[in-house]
Order: sequence, then C-alpha cells, then structure tokens
Amino acid sequence: MRHLLDTTDLSLKEIDDMIATAVDIIDNKDKYSHICDGKKLATLFFEPSTRTRLSFEAAMLELGGSVLGFSEAASSSASKGESVEDTAIMVSCYADIIAMRHPFEGAPRIASTRSKVPIINAGDGGHSHPTQTLTDLLTIYREKGSFNNLTIGLCGDLKFGRTVHSLIKAMCRYENVKFVLISPKELCVPDYIKSDVLDKSGNGYEEVEDMEQVMDQIDILYMTRIQRERFFSEDEYLKHKDAFILDLDKLKTAKSDLAIMHPLPRVNEIKTEVDFDPRAKYFEQALNGKYIRMALIKTLLEWGGKL
Ligand code: NCD
Repeated sequence: MRHLLDTTDLSLKEIDDMIATAVDIIDNKDKYSHICDGKKLATLFFEPSTRTRLSFEAAMLELGGSVLGFSEAASSSASKGESVEDTAIMVSCYADIIAMRHPFEGAPRIASTRSKVPIINAGDGGHSHPTQTLTDLLTIYREKGSFNNLTIGLCGDLKFGRTVHSLIKAMCRYENVKFVLISPKELCVPDYIKSDVLDKSGNGYEEVEDMEQVMDQIDILYMTRIQRERFFSEDEYLKHKDAFILDLDKLKTAKSDLAIMHPLPRVNEIKTEVDFDPRAKYFEQALNGKYIRMALIKTLLEWGGKL
C-alpha cells in the first residue's frame, strides 16, 4: 500500500504511467466506468474546496465507486478535539481510500502513519498540493506534449501558494526547465524551495516583480490567487491583493502557443476577457483534474491490492 503525500513520492516513470492512464480514460471512458464498483472514497476536507473535493468525488463516481466524507472541520469530530491520527484510524474502517485537505502542514502525513488505507494529500496548509500538480502535469502534457525545454512563469503568491511549491518540485525533475518567478518581494518563493529544490536541480530561475518584462519568454504562465486566508493581517493582504491582474493588453507580447494556467479559484488576477483567448487553459485544467484523479485512485487501489 502506498500514499500520495507529495509529488516526489512518485517516480518519473510512475507519473508517465499515470498520465498515460488518464489519457486512456479520456479516450475510453466506458472501459473504466465499473472498475471501482463497491469501493468507497472518503473526502476529509478540514479546509474549503470546490474543485479538488468535487473532482475527487466525480472521479470516484465515474469509476463506479461511492463517496462519503465532510467538507468542513466544523462538521467533523475535529471540532470536538479528535486527533488527525484517530480520525484516520476510524475512517480507514469505513473507506478504501482517503483524500484529506487540512490547514496544518504535514497533517496528511500524520494521518498516513495510522491509516489502514491509502491517504492522498489534497492540500496541506501552505506546503504541498500533489494532486493539483498531477492535474497541472496532465495539462502541460496535453498542451505541450513534453515536460522538457519549457520556460514556466509562476505569478502571484509564491510564498503561501502550495500549488506553486509542488509544481516547482515536480518540474525541476525534467530537463532544461527554466522558472521565472513573478511576485512582490514579500510573496516570493520560500528559501527552502530555492535551496533544496531549485538550486539543487540545476534548472535556472530568475525572480522579477513585473510580468510584462518577461511575457515574451514564457511557454506556460501559471497564475495564482493572492490568498487572503494565509496572511497574518488584513492590511498585508490589502497591500498585495491587486499585485497582478492579467488582461489582454498584457498578453500582447506573449507567445502564440502560450498556455495560461491557474489552479483556481480566481479572484481578480485574470480578467474574464482572457477566458475567451485560446491560450487560456484553466478551465480545461480543472477538467483534467477529474481525469488524473481517476487515474490516481485506480493506481493507488491497485498498488494496495484492492483492484
Ligand atoms: C488551490 C489550493 O487550494 O491550494 N486551489 C485548488 O486546489 N484548485 C489554490 C487556491 O486556493 O488559491
């Protein structure tokens, strides 16, 4: 049995296989519609979510399985003081696989020490979000056909943005990937990502505070939300909330095959006029999230001998 706590838990070959499975699911949906008959996914969401939780649930339903769970900590026994370990022991008696989102970094890892079924990290605080990264990888693969030789612009809240941290960790394992980190100084990528991931990988990166100056170099523009809930004060949030707003004018110098991505939800960082530009891929990305989660559930249940 294996868990998915961070993207680097998977080898490059395992990621390739999972992407191949997702592509096969897209092409042959009927083939997969009963493979999880009788199996249950529990979604334990101690933090708000729309896409991640619903795409997990849709994924399991489309595989023929069922879902149970909760969407806020207040409706679980965590509000009575139950530990993450105890919740994991209990829920693994009721479900075959668990997707957990938690505001505390490392909570899914703690759950995995006591769970009898695979735990999937569906986002832990500002740390990591491996299933969003698998979603991003499937999107990059479908748009670019490869993970090598790309310049990726990451823009917005790179400090608290767990999707950014996971994506950097994943993309650093490929050849000739260059990162352009676009953020205000106060919201730049944490030092541990620079020293432990970027510096060690040998992939180059540059930090800038203005997206227009680098727009013409970028193959993938990964926009992120300035995350109000992670700031220590409302004033700090207000200072940064309008730091980057992508509109059609700013895309004037962009490549014609640029892929604009965003894990969503969007607040104001991408104007809705951009939605109609063929380079906007964020809604396709959300759909890819369902397919890759189908592939992930299938793979983890197989590794656990349940399929
Ligand atoms: C992201 C998250 O929860 O980290 N959303 C998502 O899972 N699609 C990004 C965000 O909340 O801004």
